[in-house]
Amino acid sequence: MTILVTGAAGFIGSNFVLDWFSQSKEDVVSLDLLTYAGNLENLSSLNGSPHHHFVQGDIGDRNLVSSLLKKYQVRAIVNFAAESHVDRSIHESKDFIETNIVGTYNLLESARSYWNDLDKNLKQDFRFLHISSDEVYGSRDLTDPPSNESDPYKPNSPYSASKAASDHLVRAWFQTYKLPVLTVNSANNYGPYQFPEKLIPLCILNALKGKPLPIYGNGQQVRDWLYVKDHSAAISEILKQGHIGETYNVGGRNEKTNLEVVETLCAILDELKPKSNGKSYRDQITFVKDRPGHDRRYTIDASKLERDLGWRPQETFETGLRKTVLWYLENAAWMGHVVTGEYQDWIQKQYP
Ligand code: NAD
Ligand code: TYD
Repeated sequence: MTILVTGAAGFIGSNFVLDWFSQSKEDVVSLDLLTYAGNLENLSSLNGSPHHHFVQGDIGDRNLVSSLLKKYQVRAIVNFAAESHVDRSIHESKDFIETNIVGTYNLLESARSYWNDLDKNLKQDFRFLHISSDEVYGSRDLTDPPSNESDPYKPNSPYSASKAASDHLVRAWFQTYKLPVLTVNSANNYGPYQFPEKLIPLCILNALKGKPLPIYGNGQQVRDWLYVKDHSAAISEILKQGHIGETYNVGGRNEKTNLEVVETLCAILDELKPKSNGKSYRDQITFVKDRPGHDRRYTIDASKLERDLGWRPQETFETGLRKTVLWYLENAAWMGHVVTGEYQDWIQKQYP
């Protein structure tokens, strides 16, 4: 049997696929459209493996997805494919609507049609695991308790609204058609292979290039940070033991302000890659125009996952961030390959 992983050439998807092969013998079909965010280099260590099959394509392409499901006798779909960057969704939201909402709808329909035709046992074992975000719960005040799985959705950005819509579709396909779904709402991830449009890799790249480290507004917005490999472990566990139709929140118990994140990053870089002039990377921190509708705080309650499935994050923010910085220092060539023309255009637009 095989699992189908969509968005497998992106940040979390590629980490998940690599981690999957370190603990499972089951084959993987990786489906990815290879947008600006998708990078086959992330999966290059699997080149030549008879157990990994990469297909370039759209989750919304029903003919393609249906043929892959049948050809590989897929027993689970893990759906990472999405447009994932809030700032891009603010500039232009069309692709977010198309992939995150319409794409998920088409993927659900392809899955439903395949699942309907499966034999009884295979039908029972099939899973559609959908990856979503803590951002769907909206902004929390500093005194609010962490968001749990039964909290109402209050998305504020085009990105989070599109993710919320996709979560609702997934829920409806369970309630209406009994498609065996699972939904995972995760905190901000960080780690290897993250595209340098997101805060942490952007700041690593800019720090090393002597460029400003852009902090939106006053830098007091709070995010919970989850090391990507802890997320992979959670997803594997949920796929194995999660209750059909349920949602699981995943978080790292690492709430930090953006300023704290960047200051911690600078301290690690000062130690691992000291500047030749003896100064700190902190000097490069620059406060820039705030993001419109910038959510003040995300805080996620992962106690259901911890209690019911026994999952715990293995990394603290300091240990995970150190691993991340080391990875970027050791993989300068990877970074060099992703900061292409499209990336330069984005940086010009976002940080004029
Ligand atoms: P990413 O942008 O790095 O990767 C997304 C991948 O999806 C890319 O490889 C892209 O080519 C592919 N893709 C886009 N449109 C597609 C389509 N129509 N068909 C097939 N492939 C398509 O994103 P990421 O950070 O790895 O996020 C993965 C998932 O996790 C997303 O659903 C995102 O909403 C969710 N999530 C991310 C975070 C985070 O901190 N990065 C946190 C919570 C949830
Ligand atoms: P980001 O990595 O884009 O993730 P998300 O918006 O999904 O949480 O941003 C994390 C936080 O960092 C968010 O509060 C916005 C902030 N931020 C900056 O201050 N400067 C930047 O250049 C970027 C990209 C983000």
